[in-house]
Amino acid sequence: MDTYDAIATKLDVREFAQRHVADGTKAKILEAARLTGSSMNSQHWRFILVSDPGNLKMLAQDSTTGSWVKEADFAVIVNIDPKVPGSVIDAGRAAQDMQLAAWNEGVASGVFTGVKLKETRKDFGIPEGLSSVIVVGFGYPRRKLAGRKRREPLSAIAFLERFGDPLPGQILLTAHQRPCPSVNL
Ligand SMILES: Cc1cc2nc3c(=O)[nH]c(=O)nc-3n(C[C@H](O)[C@H](O)[C@H](O)COP(=O)(O)O)c2cc1C
Repeated sequence: MDTYDAIATKLDVREFAQRHVADGTKAKILEAARLTGSSMNSQHWRFILVSDPGNLKMLAQDSTTGSWVKEADFAVIVNIDPKVPGSVIDAGRAAQDMQLAAWNEGVASGVFTGVKLKETRKDFGIPEGLSSVIVVGFGYPRRKLAGRKRREPLSAIAFLERFGDPLPGQILLTAHQRPCPSVNL
């Protein structure tokens, strides 16, 4: 899939089919995380692949905003060293790269950041010094995905040179002519 199309069509999905994702696809998704650039290339992150149904249920219970992950085929807990400057940005980049790599394979995903740290640390053996900041749940979507993303227009969120000054008409026109494509997967 074209990179722009992947970005433009990807939706966060929280309902998954009872169909397993192949190990080769899981490997590609984890490789996408590994290959992501991190602050000073410090690669402070550690990823935990969770695919045992009992552990996915535990992950859901260890969350305040991700109960849906119990339905996922698998999940990846992203753990970072909070002492590294920019480490939370690193986690977000790795999560997004995994989501896009998955989308390219027809695998949908959602994220949650409502992680109960103490419980997650205990249940998944996360060492002191690392924090679980974002979890990505993956699986084939349970229903057909159709519709558009709900996003602000470019004119409302991007400016030229100074905050509030409009972008050139040509850029806005081009963006307007190429809105988020409809998702029909
Ligand atoms: C930093 C961040 C934190 C998020 N936290 C949660 C969360 O805790 N639970 C959840 O279900 N979705 C979470 N999301 C997913 C957003 O709700 C989702 O990206 C947004 O609604 C856009 O979805 P769409 O791309 O399908 O339109 C989070 C997304 C980001 C980027």
